[in-house]
Parts: sequence; structure tokens; C-alpha cells
Amino acid sequence: MSLDKRNSINNILEENRIFHPSKNFADNSNIRSFEQYHSLKKQALKNPAHFWESFAKSEIDWFEPFETVLDSENAPFFKWFKEGKLNITYNCIDRHIKNGLGKKTALIWEGEPGDSRKFTYNELLKEVCKTANALKEIGVKKGDLVCIYMPMIPEAMFAMLACARIGAPHSVVFGGFSSEALKDRLIDGSAKFVITADGGFRKDKVIELKNAVDAAIENGASKIVEKVIVVQRTKKNISMLKNRDYWWHEIVKNQKDWCEPEIMNSEDRLFILYTSGSTGKPKGVVHTTGGYNLWSHLTFKWIFDIKIDDIYWCTADVGWITGHSYIVYGPLSNGATTIMYEGVPRPSNLGAFWEIIQKYKVSIFYTAPTAIRSFMKSGREIPDKYDLDSLRLLGTVGEPINPEAWMWYRDVIGKNKCPIVDTWWQTETGGVMISPLPGAIATKPGSATFPLPGIEVEVVDKNGKKVKENEGGFLIIKKPWPGMMRTIHGNSERYIKSYWEHISFQGEKNVYFAGDGARIDKDGYIWIMGRVDDVISVSGHRLGTMEIESALVSHESVAEAAVVGKKDDLKGEAIVAFVSLEKDVKTSLELAERLKKHVVSEIGIIARPEKIIISDSLPKTRSGKIMRRILRSIAAGERITGDISTLEDSSVLEKLKESS
Ligand code: WT7
Repeated sequence: MSLDKRNSINNILEENRIFHPSKNFADNSNIRSFEQYHSLKKQALKNPAHFWESFAKSEIDWFEPFETVLDSENAPFFKWFKEGKLNITYNCIDRHIKNGLGKKTALIWEGEPGDSRKFTYNELLKEVCKTANALKEIGVKKGDLVCIYMPMIPEAMFAMLACARIGAPHSVVFGGFSSEALKDRLIDGSAKFVITADGGFRKDKVIELKNAVDAAIENGASKIVEKVIVVQRTKKNISMLKNRDYWWHEIVKNQKDWCEPEIMNSEDRLFILYTSGSTGKPKGVVHTTGGYNLWSHLTFKWIFDIKIDDIYWCTADVGWITGHSYIVYGPLSNGATTIMYEGVPRPSNLGAFWEIIQKYKVSIFYTAPTAIRSFMKSGREIPDKYDLDSLRLLGTVGEPINPEAWMWYRDVIGKNKCPIVDTWWQTETGGVMISPLPGAIATKPGSATFPLPGIEVEVVDKNGKKVKENEGGFLIIKKPWPGMMRTIHGNSERYIKSYWEHISFQGEKNVYFAGDGARIDKDGYIWIMGRVDDVISVSGHRLGTMEIESALVSHESVAEAAVVGKKDDLKGEAIVAFVSLEKDVKTSLELAERLKKHVVSEIGIIARPEKIIISDSLPKTRSGKIMRRILRSIAAGERITGDISTLEDSSVLEKLKESS
């Protein structure tokens, strides 16, 4: 880990603009003043166990109560609410029906080709129960891992909830990942069951999901995967293997529409979700039932200030944690109406988002800075054509938002009346950790502001010493929280190494290292500066440089590869790969294209390098370490500064500059 990469951002101009919540917004919010926020924060600090206990009791329904709030005995393998028994689907569906909300719309779904469907809480319960019974019929048992590799269709939500209903943890794999990436995840999790679709619509194209599942099984997962359920979405021709593959519409249709919720222990696994780290293969982040239920519920309630008649829309994909926590579990646990959209804005339909906001009168809208930047680029004329008056609150997630994009969002989309919540968190944190509470906290464009009540963060140097005001440092979380990851699937060692061993703070060992750089300004506002490890963020998608490098060197022509991120106005960062070739392989533009394609087939389209620079050799230290700092400068077209005396062969630099 190093702060090198981020030091250049340290000299950011002080941001002086500040936006207070309007009186009207504040007066109608759950948490309506800075004082109220502060008092919650104080309560949490004074008696954390009592703080979490009271929310766990008031917000979550337990079949059997817990006795221990937090068990730190085996830290950092923390346990929350450990004796408690519950089922998250009961909290997401049944209890709302009991409270008279059965006829309320739970899910509004908008399909890419323009089809749409709606489900009330009553209907959602039936769909989930039928799906759960179908899973039982094909042999899924409590504790079995079910992989979900689907487009953004209602069945993806039903599948997740059906798994949770019967106590089978899910492992959702984003539909944009390749069959190779899927295979790795199937094998790592030993997923016996896969739920997929014949295909999905993405940007005017069809992605062939079932074919990818078949390939993953043939190429290595055949001993693992036993059964596959396939939703018919695109009606493209696919092959179905007898006694292994089942059509969703055939197997789900005739099931009974009631399935008793399985009684789960608080610490039973709810799901695994893979994410990239700085070393090796993607890691399966493990989340468990009770703590995750509380954290996704509570953060949703606090941050989105949810009201009974809100129409809430998060544009993420359920393949990412944002979709898990803020399309499915958080909104449903709160009895909200959540929108799911199959498409993404694309050149042939740049107004797609605004059309949906207008059509469904969306009141809360949550999206990524990359999307906002691309809307900005295509001009305000497009959103200006739509009626966006229903909006009352806006959110962003996934990457730092630059102040210009923030201001544009506020002005053009929010008409200067909607607070913006810039939410910082990670797959590992389960839910948002740092964000304004929209009725209580004045915002500054580009700052995620303050940690939520109960969350204690600090910015420190590598020795764990608090850095000075406005100085960049490592972001750490000092206390455990209910939604935290519990381990890395199959690799508890890596869990400790990646998150808990980097930094000790004031002698306190178990502090969580987030992998992000940050600074805190004179008013205590937190400014996230981006990753400090070898993880890059392309359009908010997190990718490990090592992962892309391994994909490149798995190609027969490649001897060595080094991947770095380059600043990109639209995507945040773009991937630049430096590659040296095997003996006798000739460099060509065509080869660079082939290598890009190879990365796409190894990982998926999100990992496609923007540029591949082929050269005889890569800059290394005498001990053989690739000097990424130098590569980053070359990729950025900057002058190489700093010490290069450790470089083994300085002529490499000239050659590299020529080829770039
Ligand atoms: C990384 C986590 C959390 C859901 C989506 C991404 C970056 C996330 C922000 C933000 C600046 C942010 C961090 C973090 N990030 N939100 N509001 N401001 N950076 O989840 O794939 O686990 O990635 O995304 O670098 O570590 P993820």
C-alpha cells in the first residue's frame, strides 16, 4: 500500500461551497438536525452495545431474541446478535403484509425493450415462496451455495430472496462477467446450483448467459455444478441438458405459493459476493444474516429518509453490493417501493433514466458519478426535456464525485432543491459508512461528509498516527459494526491480512483498513481520495491490477504484464497495460487488440484495457520489482519525477515512452 499515487491530489483547492438542507426537508426528516445526529453519535460512543441493541430490537423482527450484542472473543472474527434467530425475507416481506402493506407495490421493474412489471408485497411473497419451493424440488438444502448469474429482471430478486427464504446462501455473479470469471467463482464457492437466464439485454445487444454457464461447467466446474435453472428472457435458442437444466417457468409455475421461512441463526451466512483485491484472485466476501439485515435496513432508513409513499430507484446492478443492499434488502426491509431497471443509458437512448423518473414519479434517485459525468457530457438539453419534479433526494455511490459533477447533479437533475447524499462504503462494509444524513448535515460538493452514528473512522499514516488537517492518509474504521464482512470465503488468513493487520491505532490492534486514502478538512468533513492499493476503479467497478495482469500473462504471446490506472474524465480511471512479449513474438496493433479481447474473455467487458503498450521489457528495480510509479507517470503522459536510481536499466524508459 502506498500513498504515492494519491499525493498529487493532496493539493486540492479548499472547497468553500456549503449547502444546508432546506427547512422544509429537515422538518420532515427522520433525523432533522445536526444536534440530533450528534446526539445519536454520542449515544453510540458512550454505550455501543446498548446503541446497537436498541436498533436491532426496534427495527428487526426476531423469531428468538439475541442475548449478546457483540462477541469479540475471536476478533477480528466478530459475531453480532449471536443467539438471535430470524429470516431476512420475513423482515423484507411477511412483516409488511402483517402490517397491512400487502397491497403496496414492492417492486417496479422496467425492461430494456420497454416491457414492465409490478409486484405488490403480497405478490412478491408468492413469487419468492414458489421459487423457494422449486429450489427445494431440485435438491437445494439449507447451507448449499446457489450461484445467481442473471440479467436485471424480477426473477433475479426472487432468486436471491428464495435462497434466503430456505437458508441457502447466494453468490450473485454480475452478468457482465465472462464464463471464465464465472467458473472461478463457481469453483471457489463450490456452488452446486446455478440460476441463470437464456440471455440478457444490454445496450442494444444480447448477452448469452446460459452459453456462458455451459462453458464454465464444461471448462472446469462440471464436478461442482449439479443443477441449473434457466429463466426465459431473450427467447434465443440455447441448449438444455436433460436432468441438469430446468426452465424456470416450468419448474416454478406449479409450486405452492407458501414456503415457511427457515429459522436462521443470526450468524448463518446470507451470501457471498466476490470483489477484487490487490493480490491474487477475487475474494468471496461473506455476509451473515442478522448484522447485515440490520445494517442494510438502518442505513437505508437513515440516508434515504424513507417515507411510505416514496418511489425509490437505485440504478446499480444486483450483481454488485449496491444492488444487494439498496435495490433488494434495504428497501424491502423498510417496506419501500423499489425500482429495478434492466437497461443502462446508451447512445440510442440517452434520456432513459429521466424517462423512468418521469414515468414512475421517482422521489429518491441513487446512481454513480460515472453516469452523472456522462450525462453532463451529453448536455442538459436531454434531462431538461423531462419532468423531474417528483425528485426530492439524490444519491451517489461507488467512486469519488468531482465537485463539477456534483453541482451539475444538484442543479440540472435536482433543480437545486434536492439534498445530495454522497455515500462511501464497500462490498466489505455491507452498507454505507460515511454519508450525509440529508435532513441533518450540510453538504460540500465532493465530500462524503461524516460517518454514520455508531461508525468511528480516522485518517492515519502508516504508523497509525492521526494525520494533520487536510493531509492525506489511510482511512481506517476503529470499531466493528453490524454489517461488516465476517471473513473471506475459504481464506480466513487473507481476511486478517487484507483488512486487520496493516495498521494499529493507539495500540488498538483490531482496526479495519479500508484500502482508501482520505483527508479530513478543518470542519471535520471527510474527502475520499481513492484506493491506495493496487485496485483501480473503472466507472466505479473495482478491479485488481493483479487480476488483469494474470489474465494478460495467461495469453501465449505475453511474457510479463503490468497494469496501472490512468485518470479518466468520464470513467474515473482507465486501464493501461504494459506488456512484454515472449521471444519471437512480433508486436503489432492487431496483437494489442487480441490481447484486449483476451482480457475480456478472461474477466469480462469491464476489465477491457483502454490501451496496451507493448515493449521489450518493463522498468524494474535491481531486485526485479516492476516500478509501477514510473508506469503510472508514463500512462498519464507526465514527466517522470522522483528517484529512479534503483532502476536496473534506464534505457527501458526511453523505449517505453516511444511505444506509448
Ligand atoms: C470502493 C469499494 C460501495 C458500493 C460500490 C462499490 C470506492 C465507494 C465511494 C464514494 C469515493 C467511493 C472506494 C471503495 N467508493 N463509494 N462515495 N466516494 N469512493 O463497492 O466495489 O466494494 O468498491 O469504491 O474506493 O473502497 P466496491
